[in-house]
Amino acid sequence: MRVFAEIGATPAGGVNRQALSDGDRAARRLLCDLALARGFGVFQDRMANLFVRREGRNPSRPPVLIGSHLDSQPTGGQFDGALGTLSAFEVLESIEDLAIETDGPIEVVAWTNEEGSRFAPGVMGSMAFAGAADPAAWQSLTGADGASFADELAATLAALPEATMRPFGTPVAAYLELHIEQGPSLEKENIPIGVVTGVQGTRWLLVTLSGQAGHAGTTSLAYRRDPMVAAAAALHQLQEAIMPADPQARLTVGRMMTYPGSINAIPDSVVFSIDIRHPDPDRLDSIEAEVRRVCEEQAASQQCSCAVVRTFDMPSATFSPVVVETIEMAARSLSLASKRMVSGAFHDALFLARVAPSAMIFVPCRDGLSHNEAEYVAPEHILSGARVMLETTIALARRPA
Ligand code: GLV
Ligand code: MN
Ligand code: MN
Repeated sequence: MRVFAEIGATPAGGVNRQALSDGDRAARRLLCDLALARGFGVFQDRMANLFVRREGRNPSRPPVLIGSHLDSQPTGGQFDGALGTLSAFEVLESIEDLAIETDGPIEVVAWTNEEGSRFAPGVMGSMAFAGAADPAAWQSLTGADGASFADELAATLAALPEATMRPFGTPVAAYLELHIEQGPSLEKENIPIGVVTGVQGTRWLLVTLSGQAGHAGTTSLAYRRDPMVAAAAALHQLQEAIMPADPQARLTVGRMMTYPGSINAIPDSVVFSIDIRHPDPDRLDSIEAEVRRVCEEQAASQQCSCAVVRTFDMPSATFSPVVVETIEMAARSLSLASKRMVSGAFHDALFLARVAPSAMIFVPCRDGLSHNEAEYVAPEHILSGARVMLETTIALARRPA
């Protein structure tokens, strides 16, 4: 963990290892080197999803796939994604060290661009793998830093020439992902293992409010068509209405740009992202409708126009009862308390659940903090999570085909 956390380390103790960046490539390089040193096979697909394979007795059986992602938020923590990927690699090494024979192969995976903060949307790699999106649609994307998605993906693929190319959608016997909870409940209840039964839905909206640029000093109120006034009023109204009325709803504005972005000019347009989440798809629809209505009304009140584009729509998912029960049995066999829970964050497991029996293991993180450089997981929780993952992986690999 420590060595990976040095790749893209930030002065505040977090990591900036955004998808398809030099840091991401360096982390993938390190994982590949560690895998090759152990004699494991290394593969990647067109989205640069990286797979590390330990053969079973029967190589024609689909693998049990375990892993997560190595990319981070711009000011991310050391554990979001990396913990699941490196715990999975540790599990593979332990199975090798113990010379445990499994009928089917076991593979570790590092999915590409889970976070989606540099190139939106997130979970690109697992979405393409599961056939839920065509990566051709992303080739012309430009990142938040102006980088070309196509160029960065090509550079990332070229950086691991040892990895054998494979197609998307190779069959998977089962998928297991360990992750930090990214919320406070396990820590608060003093429970070391969360058994994740599903993931709530997420939608990303991009709102553009357009008015008229003008001089900040000379334009009196009657002559202003200021989209910032509309944006401020709309966001205030939405924050007052949506979450206070529904404890399960989430609404976050994490990015806002003004154009032309000059101190002394009324903006011509204000563009902001809205991330909405809810376990109930109908509520997600009604929240989106409310966002559209409020933004349109506030834009109209300032003689501005409003456009709302949905840039990401991830329906909620329910995980496999078989994998959920296998995790619970593993925790019980290790005398570790566990509780079932639904994930508030999205994860690659969401798309894997469409193509294979899947579930997730959560471990507590300090103060529930994540997407924050101060993110921290105590060593004993890392150990408990990895042990549950090891037992679950072996049980899944021994299931009859
Ligand atoms: C994943 O990083 C999410 O935003 O849920
Ligand atoms: Mn993550
Ligand atoms: Mn994340």
